[in-house]
Amino acid sequence: MSALEDALRGVVGDAHVLTDDDLKASYETDWTRRFHGTARCVVRPADTAQVAAVLRACAGAGVAVTVQGGNTGLVGGGVPAGGEVLLSLSRLTALEPVDTLAAQVTVGAGVTLEALQNHARAAGLDFGVDLAARSQASVGGLVATNAGGIRVVRYGSTRAQVVGVEAVLADGTVLSRLDPPAKDNTGYDLTQLLCGSEGTLAVITRVRVRLVPPAGEAAVALVGVDGTEGALRLLADARAKLTTLAAAELCYAEGVSLVRSVGRLPAPLSEDFPAYVVIECTGRTDPTDELVEMLGECEAVGDAAVASDAAGRAKLWAYRETHTEAISATGVPVKLDICVPLDRLTALVDELPGVIAAVAPDARTILFGHLNEGNLHVNVLGAEAVGEKVTDEVLRLVAAHRGSISSEHGVGRAKTPWLDLSRSTEEIEAMRRVKAAFDPEGRLNPGVLLPAR
Ligand code: MLT
Ligand code: ZN
Repeated sequence: MSALEDALRGVVGDAHVLTDDDLKASYETDWTRRFHGTARCVVRPADTAQVAAVLRACAGAGVAVTVQGGNTGLVGGGVPAGGEVLLSLSRLTALEPVDTLAAQVTVGAGVTLEALQNHARAAGLDFGVDLAARSQASVGGLVATNAGGIRVVRYGSTRAQVVGVEAVLADGTVLSRLDPPAKDNTGYDLTQLLCGSEGTLAVITRVRVRLVPPAGEAAVALVGVDGTEGALRLLADARAKLTTLAAAELCYAEGVSLVRSVGRLPAPLSEDFPAYVVIECTGRTDPTDELVEMLGECEAVGDAAVASDAAGRAKLWAYRETHTEAISATGVPVKLDICVPLDRLTALVDELPGVIAAVAPDARTILFGHLNEGNLHVNVLGAEAVGEKVTDEVLRLVAAHRGSISSEHGVGRAKTPWLDLSRSTEEIEAMRRVKAAFDPEGRLNPGVLLPAR
């Protein structure tokens, strides 16, 4: 037994330092099964003080740390490269009482998105971020990756919900700024700097978030359109005419056919369409009429199914929300997450099959994503062996269309070699200096976000 493991057991107790291969295994592979790495051990602290003590012990031993939340990340950022201590935040599940006056709440980093949503709803409020992995994704991970999801069209990404954080530096120093004054211009916004920093600057242990009014009444439409152009024309109408727009999601015939066969779902509409848009409206009063009126006036609509009751809405959402699990049930995808300006989306979608076929002729490409932001999830099945080539071709095409190589999943380990397609040399150098200021020994999440020199 090494001195470090002994020290860690002294901090968190014997049961929360895992060294057996079979106990570590589920922490060492990511959700997609594409990224693996062996952890020296897994350590599961219970609170900020224990996280600080764990990081001090690792710093004393000169050992690097990989930080993991719900392990639902899609870019390998939460699995070790090899030999790190894996710091799991899964036990930081404290839910503090909702502050209904400020419409805010403070929660532990390991609280799942679903638990936060339920906690907020029990107090008559809601949380402004939602995504399909809600039952497992943790709040700390959402903040560390600045997660997006299906509500960005109304509330913005996770960073827009964050009021303050408590976080621990690699040397064990605790930075606590959970409840800053409502207007506060006293220097660098360290909280916002940690949003999207992917665990490379500090370990987020507690988060204070703002809450939003409850969704109220809801209506969902699954709309068949003639392709990307039609989807964009529908989006423009939805944005111009719907005061209650809460989601606008995009998928294509290939993906709908896959989710139908994996999930044994019936045909959603009277005929098949090249593309589909899921629109959700929510408001204090039933938004169904507003939604139906907009659809009736929009010439891009081929056919539409509309549901206002909870069961009907869930059935329509399933055609979009089960894409990820249907793809993973079929194979290990090369998963890319990009966005381009809306006026480039049609060209990108048209050009993608050609660039992918050039390096992976037999691959199956499934596109879906968040229409409002021009954010496409490009999933390529049957291309694992040429994953780097596919990634390179697709990301270069995205950069040529002035897009982002990582729209919402983060850079992780998967995209570091391509960071310079989205960020300038000067920006990357400035990021390296920020990293060095927070973590001079490079102990937190080595190999994540910043490319090797
Ligand atoms: C989604 O939008 O469903 C998620 O980002 C998951 C994914 O891309 O697979
Ligand atoms: Zn997404």
